[in-house]
Amino acid sequence: MQVTSPNVSIKPVTASVNDLGHLVVGGCDVVKLAEQFGTPLWLIDEATIEQACRAVKAGLSEYPKTQVLYAGKAFLCLAMCHLIKRLGLGLDVVSIGELMTASRASFPPELIYLHGNNKSQEEIAFGLNLGDIKIVVDSVSELYLIQEVAAHLQRRAKILLRVTPGVEPDTHHYIRTGQADSKFGLPLENLSHIVELAQVHSDCLELIGLHAHIGSQSHEIEPYLEIIEILADCFVELQHFVGLTLTQLDVGGGLGIAYTPNDHPTPLYEWSRAIARHVEACFTNRNLALPTLLVEPGRAIVGTAGITLYRAGHCKNLPGGITYIALNGGMADNPRPITYQARYTPCLANRLNDPCSDKPITFVGKYCESGDIIVKDAYLAAESGDLVAIFGTGAYNYSMASNYNRTGRPACILVAKGQSEVIIKRESPDDLIARDRVPQRLLVD
Ligand SMILES: Cc1ncc(COP(=O)(O)O)c(C=O)c1O
Repeated sequence: MQVTSPNVSIKPVTASVNDLGHLVVGGCDVVKLAEQFGTPLWLIDEATIEQACRAVKAGLSEYPKTQVLYAGKAFLCLAMCHLIKRLGLGLDVVSIGELMTASRASFPPELIYLHGNNKSQEEIAFGLNLGDIKIVVDSVSELYLIQEVAAHLQRRAKILLRVTPGVEPDTHHYIRTGQADSKFGLPLENLSHIVELAQVHSDCLELIGLHAHIGSQSHEIEPYLEIIEILADCFVELQHFVGLTLTQLDVGGGLGIAYTPNDHPTPLYEWSRAIARHVEACFTNRNLALPTLLVEPGRAIVGTAGITLYRAGHCKNLPGGITYIALNGGMADNPRPITYQARYTPCLANRLNDPCSDKPITFVGKYCESGDIIVKDAYLAAESGDLVAIFGTGAYNYSMASNYNRTGRPACILVAKGQSEVIIKRESPDDLIARDRVPQRLLVD
């Protein structure tokens, strides 16, 4: 079967160039969008998200029981919840803010999985009050807390245990999570102990499955196959020694996307198909019943769908041949380059057909950090006033953005079939100042 996997492309699936030489996404001329909505501006292409969801589901289609959960930490707002719900995905959330967003979008509680390594009592209670959500337990003390909250609410919490399988993916060390010394999850050696604890409290806790997540922006399939083997062994151990048959296996997310031509991630469709086939083989070989298989991609669903539009400002030609072009955004709307040296592909969205430059330029942000560099060594003949588009900013941009230098976050626009709609309003300086309070004593001279 030929299925398009958007995560292998740098550009959204609808990207094209019109007669004016302008970038078009979702049927919209982005030069017009920049004029209408201002810059910096985040764009999200609905068709790319739809295609990514189709690809991941198609890869799982041979396996009898599956559920794709979208990892909301990559990008979440009400419109995204509605879109994900319409596409038949569940949702992985990690905070009360994400839980409330899901709840306000009437997301089905049974498809919500609450993650996080330090869930508060308030978050657990909020989640349980929504209905039949699942909670992914990250530590022994958290197990006790969930048990207490569930007992207080007279509910039985459905839980999965997050284990750290000791598998290291090919990614930046800040976004690895599956290694043995990770801050996330339970060491494998503690598994039987925590399972026994869960069973002691089976009136309030129903243990239904195991979860592992290797980390983020991984290009390879091998680490996933490795964790499936490890988790299948855990299912055997729990069946033989504790007499427990678990029904859910969640192998996490973390599949990478192509940010530059040097990135070659496993296509989403092949990723989910390889996972499904390996789970089926591993569980069948061990004479285990097939569990419901869950995967939790975030970046691979929304990353390629996103573009950021900036206006190019001042230009500096330094001795030694370095040219800096300052953008009207930067690390506050995209903290990935300064946090983990992430790389991106830019283009001049207002003159896509113009020839490239043979001299590299560096697009820097406007924020007060020397490391606020969005793209180093771009071979573009950019000038002040150009509209610069950065591809691949759908994931971990809005969701990790800040108000550094007291700057409001950009607006986010959903584009589809020539329509463009605001899904997150731009923050104004007034929005930021409105939250300030001045102690009375500072007001007297
Ligand atoms: C438990 C868990 N699941 C899923 C994800 C999603 O990862 P990604 O957006 O890289 O697919 C993360 C991200 O860190 C995570 O911690």
